[in-house]
Amino acid sequence: MKIINSIMHMQALAIAPEREGRRIAFVPTMGFLHEGHASLLREGRKRGDVLVLSIFVNPIQFGQNEDLDRYPRNMEGDCKIAEACGVDIVFVPTAAEMYPQGFQTGVTVRDIALPLCGASRPGHFDGVATVVAKLFNIVRPDVAFFGCKDYQQLAVIRRMAADLNMPVEIVGMPIVREADGLAMSSRNAYLSPSERQSALCLVRAIKRARELFAGGERSIAVLTRETRAVIEQEPSATIDYVEMRDGVLLQDQEVADSDTLLALAVKIGQTRLIDNTVLGEEL
Ligand code: PAF
Repeated sequence: MKIINSIMHMQALAIAPEREGRRIAFVPTMGFLHEGHASLLREGRKRGDVLVLSIFVNPIQFGQNEDLDRYPRNMEGDCKIAEACGVDIVFVPTAAEMYPQGFQTGVTVRDIALPLCGASRPGHFDGVATVVAKLFNIVRPDVAFFGCKDYQQLAVIRRMAADLNMPVEIVGMPIVREADGLAMSSRNAYLSPSERQSALCLVRAIKRARELFAGGERSIAVLTRETRAVIEQEPSATIDYVEMRDGVLLQDQEVADSDTLLALAVKIGQTRLIDNTVLGEEL
């Protein structure tokens, strides 16, 4: 497994497989890898001849009061997971090379990036779209893998790739959960043991919504109210948003159907967690 820091070196390595008709599978991450990332890497290993993992904590997708400085890092642990998943190249660029002095270009995806995390983290999806576009230009993947836990991020990246005719297949992979249902996230590392317990209110809220939907409830107002009520019972939880929207364009809906997305962002203490479910999707 090669570890590459330089953009030019990575681009040079990507050209050979392209010429030889070998497929590059790509998993972009911010590191501190967990089983969710490993599931993307394992799928990438199956679907590509060369498997590239990038690790880059992208400063431009963090807001001013967010956790950029304390975002968890563990290069040694990440390399062990990468090696076990059969990664060929780990690309770890520096912020100085990704965003040199004078950098002034950005990618903005419009409507689909506006609600949910786009509303509570202004500029976040511009940062994500810009870095993913840059990484695609550097790594030149045939296929790239993203987790469905970041449902809106996946939708934004799909839109960007389609709108800008990027020659890459975007694959969304199912949310990977801990045994008790908590969605895996690098940010779970911030939770104290008692907060870790409190975080299960997200899982209970999703379960409640799915049960009501399965029982025939279709009013978004009722489903949302009942879902919020579950989280409001947890003293250390502060709701950022609990919303149901259509799962394709993320537009408002009044009546739920099997494609309706329930998306949650909830702060447990200081840690902001997100989770989601598509109400009619089999788990
Ligand atoms: O999901 C992430 O880890 C990041 O948002 C991504 C896609 C690697 C872009 O920095």
